[in-house]
Amino acid sequence: MSSNHTTVNHLNNRRILLAVSGGIAAYKIPELVRQLIKSGAEVRVIMTHSACQFVTPLTLQIVSEHPVYADLFELEQAATETPGSQMSHIELARWADLILVAPATANTIAKISQGMADDLLSTTLLASSAPLMVAPAMNSQMWESDATQDNITLLTQRGITIVGPASGELACGEVGAGRLVEPSELLKALNDHFAIGPLSGIKVTITAGPTREPIDPVRYITNRSSGKMGYALATAARRLGADVRLVSGPVSMAQPPGINLIPVETAQEMLSSVMVDPGEIFIACAAVADYHLADVAEEKMKRSDSSLTLKLEPNPDILKSVAQLPSPPFTVGFAAETERLEEYALRKMEQKGIDMIAANLVGDVDSGFDHDHNRLSVYWRKGATQLDLASKSEIAEQLMALVIKQFSKQ
Ligand code: C5P
Repeated sequence: MSSNHTTVNHLNNRRILLAVSGGIAAYKIPELVRQLIKSGAEVRVIMTHSACQFVTPLTLQIVSEHPVYADLFELEQAATETPGSQMSHIELARWADLILVAPATANTIAKISQGMADDLLSTTLLASSAPLMVAPAMNSQMWESDATQDNITLLTQRGITIVGPASGELACGEVGAGRLVEPSELLKALNDHFAIGPLSGIKVTITAGPTREPIDPVRYITNRSSGKMGYALATAARRLGADVRLVSGPVSMAQPPGINLIPVETAQEMLSSVMVDPGEIFIACAAVADYHLADVAEEKMKRSDSSLTLKLEPNPDILKSVAQLPSPPFTVGFAAETERLEEYALRKMEQKGIDMIAANLVGDVDSGFDHDHNRLSVYWRKGATQLDLASKSEIAEQLMALVIKQFSKQ
């Protein structure tokens, strides 16, 4: 981070929605946005109409590199007309890893505490379940008023983080509490928020989905993997504070917030992307095709009445390659078996030289491939446990807890 070279940067790839309300301190926000972008965060800005009197949407648009709106209906119209490039307020609310209201005026604080939704900013806040941070800035009388203090108490009780205000000379000429904390302090508060978690600062690389091995320019070999388990693991690792790289084959899943998604097609591409940075924990959840075509046809293959033989060659074993690195990460593999689960899973753990294996019986009607639920038998060098049938996101949380336990014993 630019403000302090000894601080670990936890803001990389974080999605921060900055909600700017109308106080003179809004002039400090472009600097905050600049520093956030420098730290690798993705930033979107929304404003109240009165905030636009203190800093222009254009300024914030230039520093955040994205359009900035103050009007709910203008934003909704832009989102309808350019759905790929502009998010609606609901999409923004879901997109954010964290929302920071800065400066937060007495009026905006009152609106948040009462759950009002009469403009873009308050409506977006109410529609979001993202963690909320509020940085008040106002005249000291307004700050110390019973109404504001009661509202602040309410926000604190709801788990909302209040940053500041600082004391000093205020724009109105008075001296007292009410100054917006400096951008560098806001940056630190944001960084600290993301530093919390048992995996904070730990790099986790996860493979997910199927691979796609081309036959010719229009045909390929693939499998039924949906990517759901890998994406759920990526989300769980992210929630625990990890820096997550998700190397994913073609799936129809949305990019999970705050995750570095690396889309790939073939097993060879997946291997190359994984090897760029296998992280400190590597989880191989992808259903990698075992073979690829020996020769991919350059032109579309023509139909004929005679039989056709395709020559296949084995794909690299990504998990094994990672486990064989000179200083390998903590490696976790998956084993989909149709019988003798424990015997095959343990053998696979041994053969691949990995630290943990999560095995499931494929062919179950209620779990596994392309299902929303899963059940797993998990084995590691010195133990084993069962994770009973649950949603893939619950299973992912439980598996990550086991990974953390064994990883921290290393
Ligand atoms: O050997 P098998 O395919 O049964 O092993 C499954 C485990 O190995 C999974 O974790 C899968 O992601 C990983 N794998 C891999 N590269 C391959 C084949 C499997 O990483 N080519």
